[in-house]
Amino acid sequence: MNILVLGSGAREHSLVHSLSRSPSVHKIIACPGNPGMAEIAVCKRIPFRDNIELVKQCRDKIALAVVGSSKFVEDGTVDALALAGIPVIGPAEDAGRIETSKAFASQFMTRHKIPSPWTEIVVNESEILDAFARNNQIRVVKCDGFSHGSGVHVCDDEKQAQNAAIDMLHKNGAPLILQEKLEGIECSYSILTDGQQWVSFSSSRDYKRVGENETGPTTGGMGSVSPSPDLNPELEKRIIHEIVQPVVDGMRQDSLLYRGFLSIQLMLTSNGPKVLEFNARLGDPETQSILTRFRGDLACLLKDCSMGCLNAVGSEVAFGKHSAVSVVIAREGYPESEAAQPIIDNLDKVKDSYVYFSNCRKADDSARMKFKSGRLISVTAIGETIDDAREKCYQDISRLHLEKVRFRKDIGS
Ligand code: GLY
Repeated sequence: MNILVLGSGAREHSLVHSLSRSPSVHKIIACPGNPGMAEIAVCKRIPFRDNIELVKQCRDKIALAVVGSSKFVEDGTVDALALAGIPVIGPAEDAGRIETSKAFASQFMTRHKIPSPWTEIVVNESEILDAFARNNQIRVVKCDGFSHGSGVHVCDDEKQAQNAAIDMLHKNGAPLILQEKLEGIECSYSILTDGQQWVSFSSSRDYKRVGENETGPTTGGMGSVSPSPDLNPELEKRIIHEIVQPVVDGMRQDSLLYRGFLSIQLMLTSNGPKVLEFNARLGDPETQSILTRFRGDLACLLKDCSMGCLNAVGSEVAFGKHSAVSVVIAREGYPESEAAQPIIDNLDKVKDSYVYFSNCRKADDSARMKFKSGRLISVTAIGETIDDAREKCYQDISRLHLEKVRFRKDIGS
């Protein structure tokens, strides 16, 4: 079959890589893709902002479309493909609100009794003041939709939180989500669902801060490990029973068509796992470590899912006991500045890792890549244990010639 993968980042590169191992795949078209994946996919610039043109170019040529980022959910691309009869992995726009609207996600969790932080949704200044008068534990302030990194404030005290809420109301508008701050360990749990059945896509941990020991500004993710070292079988059972199954059942009860990956961001608290937020997709860089461990036929599994016939027994979801570690090499100065011109050479010296490229293009005058974003490549290794994987990954990074980059030295430690 011919598969279309929408997106251009390292997550999409690892999706393309896993799909390329499926015997049933004839051709992968990455739109727009990037030159890092050009050996395993045809990179094509279909104007994906134009859903009508995209559908026209895919009809009768594409057996399955897979979207990496939730922007394709929010802008109606998934709905346009599905309406044209093109099987697609990604939720319908209204089901995707579980990620794109935090107010929707919070109301969904309340309705279906899914453990989550104490939350209040407010729409004006007087409701903000009332909420703070009712609860002196509010420390987290979130805006409803996407906000390019400025949409969540985690505050140290009540006064700071109240000021942050009033500021955010003026900047981002209503509604706002006010929450208590949960203490515990963060972990994400991913599934693939066709709206009826679901299969586990394992757990992972994302390293969000730019500096070692979770210091410095928050980034898109500086690395990941899978499975999460903080999960044990008993906790996983609890996550499935208290969260995963109620989410899938809740979507069905609310008549929301969810076919695709769902990543559940959890806080493992002393009172059990609670949901921080949902991603209507696999995370980046979590995908890199999750899919590098995956040994099943991803194309068949996704095709079954897109047709609404996901079958946990027949779909051979294969996550062995191996662990994966993925380290993001980012531009020097990231996330504050994207001015540095990084150099990454000696990629052919990498022995035991997979290298997934972020959005980039070939430089005009050399084989070197010119990167378009702050995060450049994800170096990802698997091993029998997380320590093995980490060692292989950092060994391979030491074989690279790197200039004007930064990366964390403690991923998987
Ligand atoms: N790593 C977090 C995300 O993909 O949103």
